[in-house]
Amino acid sequence: MLAMLVRARTGGGAGRRRSRHRFKSAGADVFLRATTIGHQVRSHMEIPARGIPADEIIAELGGAARAGDIDPWSGKAFGLCYFAGKEHYDLTRRAYDAYFHANALNPGAYPSLLRMENEIVAIAASMLHGSRQARGSVTSGGTESILNAMRAYRDMARERDGVTRPEVILPASVHPAFEKAAHYFNIKPVHVPLSADHRADVDAARTAVTGNTVAIVGSAPCYPYGVVDPIPELAAIASERGIGCHVDACLGGFFLPWMDEAGYPVSRRWDFAVDGVTSISLDAHKYGYAPAPSSLVMYKSDKFRKHQFFVYSGWCGGLYGSPGMLGSRPGGAIAATWAAMRALGRDGYVATCKETMRIARQICDGINAIDGVHVIGEPDMCVYAWRADDGAGIDTLSLVDVLEKEGGWFINLMQNPPAAHHMTSVVHGPVARRFLDDLALVVGDFRAHPGKHPPSQKAAMYGMMATFDHRGKVDDLIRDVLLKDYAHKAGPKKGAGG
Ligand SMILES: Cc1ncc(COP(=O)(O)O)c(C=O)c1O
Repeated sequence: MLAMLVRARTGGGAGRRRSRHRFKSAGADVFLRATTIGHQVRSHMEIPARGIPADEIIAELGGAARAGDIDPWSGKAFGLCYFAGKEHYDLTRRAYDAYFHANALNPGAYPSLLRMENEIVAIAASMLHGSRQARGSVTSGGTESILNAMRAYRDMARERDGVTRPEVILPASVHPAFEKAAHYFNIKPVHVPLSADHRADVDAARTAVTGNTVAIVGSAPCYPYGVVDPIPELAAIASERGIGCHVDACLGGFFLPWMDEAGYPVSRRWDFAVDGVTSISLDAHKYGYAPAPSSLVMYKSDKFRKHQFFVYSGWCGGLYGSPGMLGSRPGGAIAATWAAMRALGRDGYVATCKETMRIARQICDGINAIDGVHVIGEPDMCVYAWRADDGAGIDTLSLVDVLEKEGGWFINLMQNPPAAHHMTSVVHGPVARRFLDDLALVVGDFRAHPGKHPPSQKAAMYGMMATFDHRGKVDDLIRDVLLKDYAHKAGPKKGAGG
Protein backbone atom coordinates (compact mmCIF):
# COMPACT_ATOMS: atom_id res chain seq x y z
CA MET A 1 0.00 0.00 0.00
CA LEU A 2 2.78 2.40 0.92
CA ALA A 3 4.62 2.02 -2.38
CA MET A 4 1.37 2.37 -4.21
CA LEU A 5 0.52 5.64 -2.55
CA VAL A 6 3.97 7.11 -2.87
CA ARG A 7 3.64 6.58 -6.63
CA ALA A 8 0.58 8.78 -6.44
CA ARG A 9 0.38 11.18 -9.35
CA THR A 10 3.73 10.07 -10.71
CA GLY A 11 2.12 7.77 -13.23
CA GLY A 12 2.56 4.63 -11.13
CA GLY A 13 -0.86 3.58 -12.22
CA ALA A 14 -1.91 1.19 -9.46
CA GLY A 15 -5.15 3.10 -9.07
CA ARG A 16 -8.44 2.69 -10.86
CA ARG A 17 -8.11 2.33 -14.57
CA ARG A 18 -10.84 4.75 -15.46
CA SER A 19 -10.63 8.48 -15.12
CA ARG A 20 -13.63 10.26 -13.82
CA HIS A 21 -14.61 13.71 -12.80
CA ARG A 22 -16.92 13.42 -9.93
CA PHE A 23 -18.94 16.11 -8.38
CA LYS A 24 -20.63 15.23 -5.17
CA SER A 25 -23.16 16.84 -2.94
CA ALA A 26 -24.67 15.85 0.39
CA GLY A 27 -26.42 12.53 0.24
CA ALA A 28 -26.64 12.39 -3.53
CA ASP A 29 -23.73 11.96 -5.87
CA VAL A 30 -23.77 13.50 -9.28
CA PHE A 31 -21.39 11.82 -11.66
CA LEU A 32 -19.74 13.11 -14.74
CA ARG A 33 -17.58 10.26 -15.86
CA ALA A 34 -15.06 10.01 -18.64
CA THR A 35 -15.08 6.27 -18.47
CA THR A 36 -14.08 3.34 -20.57
CA ILE A 37 -16.64 1.13 -18.87
CA GLY A 38 -19.46 2.20 -21.15
CA HIS A 39 -17.53 0.77 -24.09
CA GLN A 40 -16.94 -2.58 -22.44
CA VAL A 41 -20.61 -3.16 -21.80
CA ARG A 42 -23.33 -3.76 -24.33
CA SER A 43 -25.58 -0.80 -24.79
CA HIS A 44 -29.26 -1.69 -25.20
CA MET A 45 -31.22 1.04 -26.95
CA GLU A 46 -34.26 -0.85 -28.19
CA ILE A 47 -36.58 -3.55 -26.96
CA PRO A 48 -35.05 -6.86 -28.14
CA ALA A 49 -36.95 -8.42 -31.04
CA ARG A 50 -36.73 -11.77 -29.28
CA GLY A 51 -36.57 -12.22 -25.55
CA ILE A 52 -33.14 -12.82 -24.04
CA PRO A 53 -32.55 -16.10 -22.14
CA ALA A 54 -32.65 -15.73 -18.37
CA ASP A 55 -29.08 -16.90 -17.76
CA GLU A 56 -27.77 -14.30 -20.21
CA ILE A 57 -29.74 -11.57 -18.47
CA ILE A 58 -28.46 -12.63 -15.07
CA ALA A 59 -24.90 -12.83 -16.40
CA GLU A 60 -25.24 -9.28 -17.70
CA LEU A 61 -26.21 -8.10 -14.23
CA GLY A 62 -22.70 -8.94 -13.02
CA GLY A 63 -19.25 -8.90 -14.51
CA ALA A 64 -18.12 -5.91 -16.55
CA ALA A 65 -21.42 -4.09 -16.06
CA ARG A 66 -20.68 -3.85 -12.32
CA ALA A 67 -17.05 -2.85 -12.71
CA GLY A 68 -17.69 0.76 -11.74
CA ASP A 69 -19.92 -0.03 -8.74
CA ILE A 70 -18.73 0.18 -5.18
CA ASP A 71 -18.43 -3.09 -3.28
CA PRO A 72 -20.51 -2.22 -0.23
CA TRP A 73 -18.99 -5.04 1.84
CA SER A 74 -15.39 -3.97 1.23
CA GLY A 75 -15.58 -1.10 3.72
CA LYS A 76 -13.91 1.14 1.15
CA ALA A 77 -17.01 3.29 0.64
CA PHE A 78 -17.88 5.68 3.46
CA GLY A 79 -21.49 6.15 2.44
CA LEU A 80 -24.42 4.04 1.26
CA CYS A 81 -23.23 0.98 3.21
CA TYR A 82 -25.41 0.26 6.19
CA PHE A 83 -25.00 -3.30 7.31
CA ALA A 84 -25.63 -5.31 10.44
CA GLY A 85 -23.88 -8.44 9.19
CA LYS A 86 -24.30 -11.03 6.42
CA GLU A 87 -26.90 -13.11 8.24
CA HIS A 88 -29.12 -10.09 8.73
CA TYR A 89 -28.62 -9.10 5.10
CA ASP A 90 -29.75 -12.53 3.93
CA LEU A 91 -32.78 -12.44 6.18
CA THR A 92 -33.92 -9.05 4.82
CA ARG A 93 -33.36 -10.30 1.29
CA ARG A 94 -35.60 -13.28 1.92
CA ALA A 95 -38.23 -11.07 3.49
CA TYR A 96 -38.11 -8.72 0.49
CA ASP A 97 -38.37 -11.69 -1.81
CA ALA A 98 -41.49 -12.96 -0.03
CA TYR A 99 -43.30 -9.77 -1.11
CA PHE A 100 -41.16 -8.72 -4.04
CA HIS A 101 -44.07 -8.37 -6.46
CA ALA A 102 -46.64 -7.14 -3.96
CA ASN A 103 -47.85 -3.56 -4.38
CA ALA A 104 -48.83 -1.76 -1.18
CA LEU A 105 -51.02 0.65 -3.18
CA ASN A 106 -54.28 -0.94 -2.13
CA PRO A 107 -54.36 -2.21 1.47
CA GLY A 108 -57.55 -4.10 0.62
CA ALA A 109 -55.50 -6.32 -1.70
CA TYR A 110 -52.68 -6.88 0.77
CA PRO A 111 -54.01 -6.56 4.32
CA SER A 112 -50.88 -8.36 5.51
CA LEU A 113 -48.75 -5.45 4.27
CA LEU A 114 -51.03 -2.95 5.98
CA ARG A 115 -50.67 -4.87 9.24
CA MET A 116 -46.88 -4.89 8.89
CA GLU A 117 -46.79 -1.17 8.12
CA ASN A 118 -48.90 -0.42 11.18
CA GLU A 119 -46.63 -2.58 13.32
CA ILE A 120 -43.49 -0.86 11.97
CA VAL A 121 -45.03 2.50 12.84
CA ALA A 122 -46.10 1.32 16.32
CA ILE A 123 -42.60 0.00 17.08
CA ALA A 124 -41.04 3.25 15.82
CA ALA A 125 -43.43 5.27 17.99
CA SER A 126 -42.29 3.39 21.07
CA MET A 127 -38.60 3.80 20.08
CA LEU A 128 -39.17 7.56 19.80
CA HIS A 129 -41.07 7.94 23.10
CA GLY A 130 -44.27 8.78 21.28
CA SER A 131 -47.57 8.72 23.14
CA ARG A 132 -50.39 6.34 22.25
CA GLN A 133 -51.53 9.02 19.81
CA ALA A 134 -48.31 8.92 17.76
CA ARG A 135 -48.91 7.87 14.15
CA GLY A 136 -46.90 7.65 10.95
CA SER A 137 -46.30 6.13 7.54
CA VAL A 138 -43.68 4.05 5.83
CA THR A 139 -42.23 5.97 2.88
CA SER A 140 -39.71 5.45 0.11
CA GLY A 141 -36.87 7.32 1.83
CA GLY A 142 -35.79 10.31 3.83
CA THR A 143 -36.65 12.71 1.04
CA GLU A 144 -40.22 11.47 0.76
CA SER A 145 -40.64 11.52 4.55
CA ILE A 146 -39.51 15.15 4.57
CA LEU A 147 -41.66 16.11 1.58
CA ASN A 148 -44.70 14.60 3.31
CA ALA A 149 -44.10 16.46 6.56
CA MET A 150 -43.43 19.83 4.93
CA ARG A 151 -46.55 19.62 2.81
CA ALA A 152 -48.56 18.62 5.88
CA TYR A 153 -47.37 21.72 7.78
CA ARG A 154 -48.08 23.98 4.83
CA ASP A 155 -51.63 22.68 4.47
CA MET A 156 -52.28 22.66 8.19
CA ALA A 157 -51.23 26.31 8.51
CA ARG A 158 -53.36 27.30 5.52
CA GLU A 159 -56.41 25.50 6.81
CA ARG A 160 -56.04 26.40 10.47
CA ASP A 161 -54.50 29.88 10.37
CA GLY A 162 -55.11 31.09 6.82
CA VAL A 163 -51.36 31.25 6.06
CA THR A 164 -51.02 31.80 2.31
CA ARG A 165 -47.29 32.65 2.17
CA PRO A 166 -45.80 29.82 4.19
CA GLU A 167 -42.23 29.89 5.47
CA VAL A 168 -40.08 27.21 7.10
CA ILE A 169 -37.05 27.77 9.35
CA LEU A 170 -34.08 25.76 8.08
CA PRO A 171 -30.75 25.69 9.92
CA ALA A 172 -27.87 25.72 7.41
CA SER A 173 -26.99 22.07 7.94
CA VAL A 174 -30.39 20.51 7.14
CA HIS A 175 -30.52 18.10 4.20
CA PRO A 176 -31.34 19.52 0.73
CA ALA A 177 -34.58 17.51 0.82
CA PHE A 178 -36.02 20.48 2.77
CA GLU A 179 -35.04 22.84 -0.06
CA LYS A 180 -36.70 20.44 -2.45
CA ALA A 181 -39.87 20.44 -0.34
CA ALA A 182 -39.84 24.24 -0.17
CA HIS A 183 -39.38 24.41 -3.92
CA TYR A 184 -42.08 21.89 -4.76
CA PHE A 185 -44.64 23.23 -2.32
CA ASN A 186 -44.03 26.96 -2.60
CA ILE A 187 -42.78 27.37 0.92
CA LYS A 188 -40.20 30.09 1.54
CA PRO A 189 -37.03 28.58 3.02
CA VAL A 190 -35.72 30.85 5.77
CA HIS A 191 -32.13 29.89 6.43
CA VAL A 192 -30.55 30.36 9.82
CA PRO A 193 -26.84 29.98 10.59
CA LEU A 194 -25.13 27.46 12.82
CA SER A 195 -23.38 28.22 16.10
CA ALA A 196 -19.65 27.63 16.54
CA ASP A 197 -20.38 24.01 17.53
CA HIS A 198 -22.13 23.45 14.16
CA ARG A 199 -25.54 23.16 15.77
CA ALA A 200 -28.52 25.33 14.80
CA ASP A 201 -28.31 28.83 16.25
CA VAL A 202 -31.39 29.01 18.50
CA ASP A 203 -31.47 32.81 18.78
CA ALA A 204 -31.30 33.16 15.01
CA ALA A 205 -34.14 30.66 14.65
CA ARG A 206 -36.24 32.57 17.19
CA THR A 207 -35.66 35.86 15.38
CA ALA A 208 -36.50 34.31 12.02
CA VAL A 209 -40.01 33.21 13.04
CA THR A 210 -42.82 35.31 11.53
CA GLY A 211 -46.58 35.02 11.34
CA ASN A 212 -46.08 32.95 8.18
CA THR A 213 -43.79 30.34 9.71
CA VAL A 214 -45.37 26.91 9.50
CA ALA A 215 -42.54 24.84 11.04
CA ILE A 216 -39.03 24.88 12.50
CA VAL A 217 -36.65 22.10 11.48
CA GLY A 218 -33.80 20.55 13.46
CA SER A 219 -31.60 17.54 12.70
CA ALA A 220 -30.70 14.56 14.86
CA PRO A 221 -28.00 14.53 13.71
CA CYS A 222 -27.32 16.67 10.63
CA TYR A 223 -25.58 14.99 7.71
CA PRO A 224 -22.55 17.31 7.39
CA TYR A 225 -21.17 17.32 10.95
CA GLY A 226 -23.09 14.51 12.64
CA VAL A 227 -24.22 16.74 15.52
CA VAL A 228 -27.69 16.85 17.07
CA ASP A 229 -29.31 20.29 16.98
CA PRO A 230 -30.66 21.86 20.21
CA ILE A 231 -34.06 20.26 19.68
CA PRO A 232 -35.65 21.16 23.08
CA GLU A 233 -34.85 24.84 22.46
CA LEU A 234 -36.13 24.80 18.86
CA ALA A 235 -39.23 22.87 19.90
CA ALA A 236 -39.93 25.36 22.69
CA ILE A 237 -40.00 28.21 20.17
CA ALA A 238 -42.32 26.20 17.92
CA SER A 239 -44.58 25.31 20.81
CA GLU A 240 -44.79 28.94 21.99
CA ARG A 241 -45.87 29.99 18.48
CA GLY A 242 -48.20 27.03 17.97
CA ILE A 243 -46.31 25.83 14.89
CA GLY A 244 -44.72 22.52 13.90
CA CYS A 245 -41.27 21.30 14.92
CA HIS A 246 -39.89 18.65 12.61
CA VAL A 247 -36.85 16.62 13.71
CA ASP A 248 -34.97 15.11 10.80
CA ALA A 249 -33.62 11.92 12.35
CA CYS A 250 -33.10 10.17 9.01
CA LEU A 251 -29.61 9.31 10.25
CA GLY A 252 -30.19 9.09 13.99
CA GLY A 253 -33.72 7.71 14.29
CA PHE A 254 -32.54 4.10 14.27
CA PHE A 255 -29.23 4.79 16.03
CA LEU A 256 -29.59 7.39 18.78
CA PRO A 257 -32.21 5.31 20.68
CA TRP A 258 -29.59 2.65 21.44
CA MET A 259 -26.58 4.79 22.27
CA ASP A 260 -27.10 5.06 26.04
CA GLU A 261 -27.30 1.30 26.36
CA ALA A 262 -24.33 0.86 24.03
CA GLY A 263 -22.21 2.94 26.40
CA TYR A 264 -22.21 6.17 24.38
CA PRO A 265 -24.72 8.40 26.18
CA VAL A 266 -26.45 11.11 24.15
CA SER A 267 -26.56 14.29 26.16
CA ARG A 268 -29.30 15.92 24.11
CA ARG A 269 -32.97 15.01 23.96
CA TRP A 270 -34.37 15.00 20.45
CA ASP A 271 -37.48 12.80 20.07
CA PHE A 272 -41.17 12.92 21.07
CA ALA A 273 -40.11 13.02 24.73
CA VAL A 274 -39.40 16.69 23.99
CA ASP A 275 -42.51 18.77 24.36
CA GLY A 276 -43.13 20.60 21.09
CA VAL A 277 -41.63 18.03 18.70
CA THR A 278 -44.50 17.33 16.33
CA SER A 279 -42.92 15.12 13.64
CA ILE A 280 -39.81 13.03 13.02
CA SER A 281 -38.32 11.49 9.87
CA LEU A 282 -36.20 8.36 10.31
CA ASP A 283 -34.71 6.11 7.66
CA ALA A 284 -35.02 2.37 8.02
CA HIS A 285 -32.74 1.95 4.98
CA LYS A 286 -29.87 3.60 6.82
CA TYR A 287 -29.17 2.55 10.43
CA GLY A 288 -32.43 0.57 10.59
CA TYR A 289 -30.58 -1.97 8.39
CA ALA A 290 -33.50 -2.51 6.03
CA PRO A 291 -33.00 -2.42 2.24
CA ALA A 292 -34.00 0.71 0.32
CA PRO A 293 -36.47 2.20 -0.24
CA SER A 294 -37.62 2.50 3.35
CA SER A 295 -38.12 5.36 5.76
CA LEU A 296 -40.75 6.54 8.21
CA VAL A 297 -42.40 9.85 8.85
CA MET A 298 -43.88 9.98 12.34
CA TYR A 299 -46.28 12.53 13.83
CA LYS A 300 -47.14 13.35 17.40
CA SER A 301 -50.78 12.64 16.55
CA ASP A 302 -53.29 12.51 13.72
CA LYS A 303 -53.91 16.21 14.26
CA PHE A 304 -50.75 16.64 12.15
CA ARG A 305 -50.70 13.46 10.08
CA LYS A 306 -54.13 13.97 8.57
CA HIS A 307 -52.71 16.85 6.50
CA GLN A 308 -50.30 14.45 4.85
CA PHE A 309 -53.03 12.33 3.28
CA PHE A 310 -54.28 12.90 -0.23
CA VAL A 311 -57.85 12.10 -1.13
CA TYR A 312 -59.84 12.56 -4.30
CA SER A 313 -63.40 11.37 -4.54
CA GLY A 314 -64.26 12.80 -7.97
CA TRP A 315 -62.54 10.30 -10.25
CA CYS A 316 -64.58 8.04 -12.51
CA GLY A 317 -61.97 5.35 -11.83
CA GLY A 318 -63.12 5.13 -8.22
CA LEU A 319 -62.58 6.77 -4.85
CA TYR A 320 -58.92 7.55 -4.28
CA GLY A 321 -56.97 8.05 -1.09
CA SER A 322 -53.28 7.61 -0.34
CA PRO A 323 -51.32 8.18 2.86
CA GLY A 324 -48.37 9.94 1.22
CA MET A 325 -46.73 11.19 -1.94
CA LEU A 326 -46.59 7.87 -3.76
CA GLY A 327 -49.27 5.72 -5.28
CA SER A 328 -47.77 2.30 -5.86
CA ARG A 329 -45.35 1.25 -3.15
CA PRO A 330 -42.98 -1.73 -2.98
CA GLY A 331 -44.41 -4.37 -0.66
CA GLY A 332 -40.98 -5.99 -0.45
CA ALA A 333 -39.52 -2.94 1.26
CA ILE A 334 -42.27 -2.96 3.90
CA ALA A 335 -41.83 -6.68 4.56
CA ALA A 336 -38.05 -6.36 4.74
CA THR A 337 -38.28 -3.38 7.13
CA TRP A 338 -40.66 -5.27 9.37
CA ALA A 339 -38.32 -8.26 9.28
CA ALA A 340 -35.21 -6.13 9.94
CA MET A 341 -36.70 -4.50 13.04
CA ARG A 342 -37.97 -7.75 14.50
CA ALA A 343 -34.91 -9.82 13.60
CA LEU A 344 -32.43 -7.42 15.16
CA GLY A 345 -34.52 -6.48 18.17
CA ARG A 346 -33.27 -4.12 20.82
CA ASP A 347 -30.25 -6.27 21.64
CA GLY A 348 -29.23 -6.52 17.98
CA TYR A 349 -29.51 -2.77 17.43
CA VAL A 350 -27.62 -2.01 20.65
CA ALA A 351 -24.81 -4.44 19.77
CA THR A 352 -24.52 -3.06 16.22
CA CYS A 353 -24.57 0.50 17.55
CA LYS A 354 -21.83 -0.33 20.06
CA GLU A 355 -19.58 -1.87 17.39
CA THR A 356 -20.25 0.94 14.92
CA MET A 357 -19.41 3.56 17.56
CA ARG A 358 -16.22 1.73 18.47
CA ILE A 359 -15.11 1.85 14.83
CA ALA A 360 -16.22 5.48 14.34
CA ARG A 361 -14.27 6.57 17.44
CA GLN A 362 -11.23 4.58 16.27
CA ILE A 363 -11.30 6.38 12.91
CA CYS A 364 -12.01 9.84 14.40
CA ASP A 365 -9.26 9.47 17.03
CA GLY A 366 -6.92 8.17 14.33
CA ILE A 367 -7.64 11.14 12.04
CA ASN A 368 -7.07 13.59 14.90
CA ALA A 369 -3.75 11.89 15.68
CA ILE A 370 -2.45 12.66 12.16
CA ASP A 371 -0.61 15.96 11.97
CA GLY A 372 -2.32 18.10 9.33
CA VAL A 373 -5.93 16.87 9.40
CA HIS A 374 -8.74 16.90 11.95
CA VAL A 375 -12.34 15.83 12.48
CA ILE A 376 -14.69 18.81 12.37
CA GLY A 377 -16.36 19.57 15.71
CA GLU A 378 -17.56 16.87 18.06
CA PRO A 379 -19.84 14.45 16.23
CA ASP A 380 -22.59 12.90 18.36
CA MET A 381 -22.73 9.55 16.58
CA CYS A 382 -20.96 7.68 13.78
CA VAL A 383 -21.32 10.34 11.06
CA TYR A 384 -18.58 12.95 10.78
CA ALA A 385 -16.44 15.09 8.50
CA TRP A 386 -12.71 15.75 8.45
CA ARG A 387 -10.45 18.20 6.66
CA ALA A 388 -6.93 19.57 6.46
CA ASP A 389 -5.85 21.94 9.21
CA ASP A 390 -5.80 25.62 8.32
CA GLY A 391 -2.26 26.53 7.40
CA ALA A 392 -1.19 22.93 6.73
CA GLY A 393 -0.88 23.75 3.04
CA ILE A 394 -3.03 20.77 2.06
CA ASP A 395 -5.96 20.92 -0.33
CA THR A 396 -8.46 18.51 1.25
CA LEU A 397 -10.19 17.76 -2.05
CA SER A 398 -6.92 16.85 -3.76
CA LEU A 399 -6.07 14.69 -0.78
CA VAL A 400 -9.36 12.83 -1.20
CA ASP A 401 -8.61 12.51 -4.92
CA VAL A 402 -5.39 10.65 -4.16
CA LEU A 403 -7.06 8.45 -1.54
CA GLU A 404 -9.72 7.51 -4.07
CA LYS A 405 -7.56 7.06 -7.14
CA GLU A 406 -4.64 5.34 -5.49
CA GLY A 407 -6.17 3.75 -2.45
CA GLY A 408 -9.54 2.77 -3.93
CA TRP A 409 -11.50 4.58 -1.19
CA PHE A 410 -14.85 6.19 -1.97
CA ILE A 411 -15.42 9.35 0.04
CA ASN A 412 -18.16 11.99 -0.19
CA LEU A 413 -17.18 15.65 -0.28
CA MET A 414 -18.43 18.73 1.51
CA GLN A 415 -17.95 22.44 0.92
CA ASN A 416 -17.54 25.72 2.85
CA PRO A 417 -14.99 24.65 3.93
CA PRO A 418 -13.98 21.71 1.72
CA ALA A 419 -14.09 18.49 3.74
CA ALA A 420 -14.46 14.73 3.47
CA HIS A 421 -17.50 12.93 4.87
CA HIS A 422 -17.88 9.52 6.49
CA MET A 423 -20.87 7.46 7.53
CA THR A 424 -19.49 4.55 9.51
CA SER A 425 -20.92 1.08 9.64
CA VAL A 426 -19.65 -2.31 10.80
CA VAL A 427 -18.07 -3.00 7.38
CA HIS A 428 -15.45 -0.36 8.19
CA GLY A 429 -14.09 -2.29 11.19
CA PRO A 430 -11.71 -4.57 9.28
CA VAL A 431 -10.32 -1.71 7.14
CA ALA A 432 -10.23 1.15 9.68
CA ARG A 433 -6.52 0.71 10.37
CA ARG A 434 -5.73 0.51 6.65
CA PHE A 435 -7.65 3.72 5.99
CA LEU A 436 -5.77 5.55 8.75
CA ASP A 437 -2.44 4.27 7.44
CA ASP A 438 -3.30 5.42 3.92
CA LEU A 439 -4.44 8.81 5.18
CA ALA A 440 -1.29 9.29 7.24
CA LEU A 441 0.81 8.35 4.24
CA VAL A 442 -0.93 10.69 1.82
CA VAL A 443 -0.97 13.58 4.30
CA GLY A 444 2.75 13.02 4.85
CA ASP A 445 3.34 13.04 1.10
CA PHE A 446 1.38 16.30 0.67
CA ARG A 447 3.39 17.93 3.45
CA ALA A 448 6.75 16.64 2.25
CA HIS A 449 6.18 17.59 -1.38
CA PRO A 450 4.17 20.81 -1.61
CA GLY A 451 3.10 21.36 -5.21
CA LYS A 452 3.48 17.70 -6.23
CA HIS A 453 -0.28 17.22 -6.12
CA PRO A 454 -2.06 19.64 -8.44
CA PRO A 455 -5.41 21.06 -7.30
CA SER A 456 -8.20 18.67 -8.18
CA GLN A 457 -10.95 19.49 -10.66
CA LYS A 458 -13.33 19.14 -7.77
CA ALA A 459 -11.41 21.83 -5.91
CA ALA A 460 -11.89 24.23 -8.82
CA MET A 461 -15.59 23.47 -8.98
CA TYR A 462 -16.12 23.76 -5.25
CA GLY A 463 -14.02 26.94 -5.23
CA MET A 464 -16.29 28.45 -7.83
CA MET A 465 -19.28 27.46 -5.80
CA ALA A 466 -17.97 29.24 -2.74
CA THR A 467 -18.39 32.53 -4.60
CA PHE A 468 -22.00 33.49 -4.35
CA ASP A 469 -21.83 35.30 -7.72
CA HIS A 470 -21.27 31.99 -9.40
CA ARG A 471 -24.06 30.06 -7.68
CA GLY A 472 -26.28 30.33 -10.74
CA LYS A 473 -23.50 29.05 -12.97
CA VAL A 474 -22.80 26.12 -10.67
CA ASP A 475 -26.50 25.26 -10.60
CA ASP A 476 -26.45 25.22 -14.40
CA LEU A 477 -23.40 22.99 -14.31
CA ILE A 478 -25.10 20.50 -11.99
CA ARG A 479 -28.14 20.46 -14.28
CA ASP A 480 -25.84 19.83 -17.21
CA VAL A 481 -24.17 16.93 -15.40
CA LEU A 482 -27.58 15.43 -14.66
CA LEU A 483 -28.67 15.81 -18.28
CA LYS A 484 -25.54 14.05 -19.46
CA ASP A 485 -25.53 11.32 -16.82
CA TYR A 486 -29.18 10.39 -17.26
CA ALA A 487 -28.93 9.85 -21.00
CA HIS A 488 -28.35 6.84 -23.19
CA LYS A 489 -24.75 6.38 -24.17
CA ALA A 490 -24.38 4.34 -27.31
CA GLY A 491 -21.40 2.01 -27.27
CA PRO A 492 -19.73 0.25 -30.21
CA LYS A 493 -21.66 -2.96 -29.52
CA LYS A 494 -24.99 -1.23 -29.93
CA GLY A 495 -27.63 -3.72 -30.94
CA ALA A 496 -25.55 -6.76 -30.08
CA GLY A 497 -27.76 -9.17 -28.21
CA GLY A 498 -30.68 -6.79 -28.52
C1 LIG B 1 -30.01 13.87 7.60
C2 LIG B 1 -30.60 13.37 6.30
N1 LIG B 1 -31.87 13.67 6.00
C3 LIG B 1 -32.44 13.25 4.85
C4 LIG B 1 -31.75 12.48 3.95
C5 LIG B 1 -32.41 12.05 2.67
O1 LIG B 1 -32.61 10.67 2.66
P1 LIG B 1 -32.84 9.85 1.30
O2 LIG B 1 -31.55 9.91 0.55
O3 LIG B 1 -33.19 8.48 1.80
O4 LIG B 1 -33.94 10.47 0.55
C6 LIG B 1 -30.42 12.13 4.24
C7 LIG B 1 -29.63 11.33 3.30
O5 LIG B 1 -28.45 11.09 3.49
C8 LIG B 1 -29.83 12.60 5.44
O6 LIG B 1 -28.56 12.31 5.76
